[in-house]
Amino acid sequence: MSDFSRIPRVPEGTYTAPLRRPSHIGENWLEPKQRSYDSDDDAIWNDLFARQMELLPGRACSAFLEGLERLDLGKGGVPEFETLSEQLNKLTGWSVVPVPMLIPDHVFFWHLANRRFPAGNFIRTRETFDYIQEPDVFHDVFGHVPLLTNPVMADYMQEYGKAGWKAMQYNRLKALGALYWYTVEFGLIRENDDLRIFGAGILSGPREAIFALEGQSPNRIMLNVDRVMRTDYVIDDLQPTYFVIDSFEDLHRQTVERDFDRLYRNISPGFTYANAAVIDVDNVLHRGTQEYQLTGGRGSDARPV
Ligand SMILES: [Fe+2]
Repeated sequence: MSDFSRIPRVPEGTYTAPLRRPSHIGENWLEPKQRSYDSDDDAIWNDLFARQMELLPGRACSAFLEGLERLDLGKGGVPEFETLSEQLNKLTGWSVVPVPMLIPDHVFFWHLANRRFPAGNFIRTRETFDYIQEPDVFHDVFGHVPLLTNPVMADYMQEYGKAGWKAMQYNRLKALGALYWYTVEFGLIRENDDLRIFGAGILSGPREAIFALEGQSPNRIMLNVDRVMRTDYVIDDLQPTYFVIDSFEDLHRQTVERDFDRLYRNISPGFTYANAAVIDVDNVLHRGTQEYQLTGGRGSDARPV
């Protein structure tokens, strides 16, 4: 249907976030090469890695932990994208490419559609060790890359990139963005009757792993693609709702079998459901108290319970 080898044109009238492209960057938004990190940077990676590994065994899904090991991401220091890409290429045909910052949606989709994962070309500092809003190399590589070793998630990510073309034609990027948010960034998965994390936003941060799985505040609801694409989300605090998949195969199937033309024609440009809403069609695993949000959320004394 579309030629995924070329950067898609953004249709007239489609809203995309305004981003100023640095002067040394071409239209593909790729850095000429990965920057070289010094020993302080490597130490930050190592400390972040160690902190997450205190939390994640028994909480992260097994495919993620296997991916970490296969790619040897704990061998010390910020991983080199070239080595990483060689390893990934053999496993699932993906590579990791450096980008300066958040990149425009249509360029991001284009890279994914070609099995290239854009990753930040910088690492956070000691000052922003606990929280950084822009995706840095730790979030992108530690959080996202391990699951690209899983053949089903590798395909899902590519399908997601291809799906961007259609969302742009219908001017429904927000809806597709919500799907990414609630799966790739903040998704949970059922594994042997337990809940586990597969979303990179949770896996790469210190506060959300326990909250997402064990907290009483958030809703935990089985994923329904139509519903999720109509649901608002928060970008700078713990989520009021998490969506749960049965398996990566199920997520892939729910997505590729969906008639997105029909969905986009029936979906409003804004979100229909608030991020804390529980609605009739939901298969609810846990109905949250929303105590954390109700007592003030980030920036207050609210406990993430
Ligand atoms: Fe991310």
